[in-house]
Amino acid sequence: MVIVVAALLGALGAPGPAPAAVPDRPSPTMRELAAERGLRFGTAVADDTALADPTYAAVLASEFDTIVPENHMKWALIHPGQHTYDFTVADAEVAFAETHGMAVRGHTLAWWNQNPTWLTSGTWTPAEGTALLEDHIDTVAGHYAGRLAQWDVVNEGVSANGGGRSYLWSQLLGYPDYVDVAFRRAHQADPAAQLFYNDFGIERPGPKFNGVLDLVEGLQDRGVPVDGVGFQAHLTLQTCTARCTNDFLTNMLALDRLGVDVAVTELDVAVPLPATPDKLAQQATVYRSMLAACLLAPNCHTFMVWGISDAHSWIPSARPGYGAALPLDEEYRAKPAWNALHDLLTTPPPAPTCADYATRPLAQAAFEAGIEGAPLLDPDGDGTACPQLPASLAASTTVTTTAPTTTTVAAAPAVAATPTLAG
Ligand code: G3I
Repeated sequence: MVIVVAALLGALGAPGPAPAAVPDRPSPTMRELAAERGLRFGTAVADDTALADPTYAAVLASEFDTIVPENHMKWALIHPGQHTYDFTVADAEVAFAETHGMAVRGHTLAWWNQNPTWLTSGTWTPAEGTALLEDHIDTVAGHYAGRLAQWDVVNEGVSANGGGRSYLWSQLLGYPDYVDVAFRRAHQADPAAQLFYNDFGIERPGPKFNGVLDLVEGLQDRGVPVDGVGFQAHLTLQTCTARCTNDFLTNMLALDRLGVDVAVTELDVAVPLPATPDKLAQQATVYRSMLAACLLAPNCHTFMVWGISDAHSWIPSARPGYGAALPLDEEYRAKPAWNALHDLLTTPPPAPTCADYATRPLAQAAFEAGIEGAPLLDPDGDGTACPQLPASLAASTTVTTTAPTTTTVAAAPAVAATPTLAG
């Protein structure tokens, strides 16, 4: 009888002895750790009723300090009819952030995808197109003026060969003319927000990244306000080679030389299923490499993943056979990638030395030695760049002793006061 009752209770899921408490994620929280480093650590907020789920909301507010609406600030959802705007969900997401002391990135004011049918099926003159784009930006950026930290003003406007992508806005207004219009108008509507150009496939050197550099330089030459470039960073296990951090950092520093910020805006690392321990370890290396680059780059202050957990990732539906792309699993438990990010933020590593730079590629050496971004070009703190540094980097990269990391090596005030090291 006892056996029967016990078996029945088991089948019905009656609680057994309480398991030993196992923390789902290490402490302190990533939010706390990132704040100590002057880094924003954020995530895309899933659609539908996610915020009403108490577990989702609790993890969001405790582990992250920045959100970006994954879909609800895009044209198709926020501007469903030519004369109709729907701010309901985006307003709720912004309100959640404000209630919990979080920053918000806006995403996005001009994109080739997720546009409403009334817009894509219409026939417009260039003048009408300009008015539509300007009115939308006035209305949407104006609606949130003063409340958003950053806007992805133009998303994915550069094609793989580095030229402008051909789509609605470039066809109607011309490229890069529409980009100028969008950035000028966004600045007018919300002068406090940092304005970003955002794209995928620009994390490593190549023609597309060169196209983005050209775009930013052109904007600056024409006096158009641009504050940063977002590296979406939808990556795979194949993204990283031995020089992974070095490649990411090379591109970040190239933008630093133009005086603009970078942000990692949509990071995820798709894994071919099933996700074995080996694959998750490789995934952790890719995550770690990207954070390492961001910590080393003096112009990287924002690090966002594209979804809180594997239960909220776009990857499985968009790329059948792939998944497990985020650092938390479907139950919000830390995966190796989460622990790798946590470790990197937790342990103040020793600073690299000139000897490190002499023997290995610049950032790879720094990554292996540990991360202290401040003395990147002047690890000895003696006011001169390492003699072994590539001339291009030593000649043109700003030396800084400020954010994003605190430095454990001797400060170099003389260098910090001099923005550029010559030769
Ligand atoms: O809104 C409809 C809903 O009415 C319908 O019932 C449902 C049925 O499938 O679809 C809903 O639309 C979906 C939309 O997300 C909102 O949930 C679309 O099918 C779906 O394709 C769309 O996917 C989004 C995708 O952008 C669109 O390209 C993803 O969630 C979103 O994560 C993804 O985000 C983009 C960034 O904005 C830019 N960078 C790349 C990134 C990944 O593609």
